[in-house]
Amino acid sequence: MPVNDNRSQRSGSQQTSTDNTSIAINTAKDKWSISSRIFHWGSVVLLFITWLMIFFRDYGEGYTFINLHKAFGVSLLLWMLARLCNRFVSKDPKPAIMPNWQKGMAHFTHFSLYLLLIAMPIAGLLMSMYGGHGVSIFGLFEIPTLVETNRSTARFFNDIHVDIIWPLIVLFTGIHIAGALYHQFVQKDNLINRMK
Ligand code: HEM
Ligand code: HEM
Repeated sequence: MPVNDNRSQRSGSQQTSTDNTSIAINTAKDKWSISSRIFHWGSVVLLFITWLMIFFRDYGEGYTFINLHKAFGVSLLLWMLARLCNRFVSKDPKPAIMPNWQKGMAHFTHFSLYLLLIAMPIAGLLMSMYGGHGVSIFGLFEIPTLVETNRSTARFFNDIHVDIIWPLIVLFTGIHIAGALYHQFVQKDNLINRMK
């Protein structure tokens, strides 16, 4: 794959290493916008904390950790909605140099992650609401139950949340991180610099 293209000769662009397989990814046009980068790493952190709250759920007093899980999950929903708006208004970087099948897979994975990280907290909210529970946001205020309690609908959204969307998030995140590692250590094209 010809990765050492004419971008490396563009003025202001610096080669990221002396290895001739590396691509110059140092100019502003090669990188995601600063807002996209903040949104990307912010959602990684929020996703990790939301999951961590589930990991600790058996250790806290009563429902402390599950309540924190819900509050961080709702925060992630708001973050993702803001990120989606940002996605439409902020400028895309120059396309990365990679074969079309990799580009297609990356686009599909990114699109799926957006969709899943929005659908997951919505399913969580509906599970709680149909279960008859409001959702406390860090004790600051409560999202009321906006629907009539219905146990079987709550179970339906529980299944969607736990058995369908969560495994898909794990799968697509795994593919995404594997792709990033492949570019970093096999292709050695410093693709990660676009998001740093
Ligand atoms: C993107 C955000 C979210 C992620 C990644 C997420 C992830 C998870 C995971 C991994 C579990 C445990 C699955 C298992 O037991 O194996 C879980 C359970 C649960 N989640 Fe979420 N969640 C999110 C948002 C929410 C929201 C916003 C709410 C409610 C407002 C919520 C309510 C719950 C509840 C009540 C459980 C316990 C279900 C059970 O024990 O059967 N989640 N979530
Ligand atoms: C260590 C973990 C991660 C690394 C190293 C990483 C790295 C990257 C890189 C380098 C890009 C830009 C790809 C390109 O320019 O073609 C990217 C984009 C993206 N990443 Fe990650 N990522 C990580 C975790 C995650 C996680 C956990 C999620 C969500 C679950 C995620 C969602 C996305 C999305 C949706 C994009 C597309 C950018 C956009 O359209 O806003 N990433 N990531």
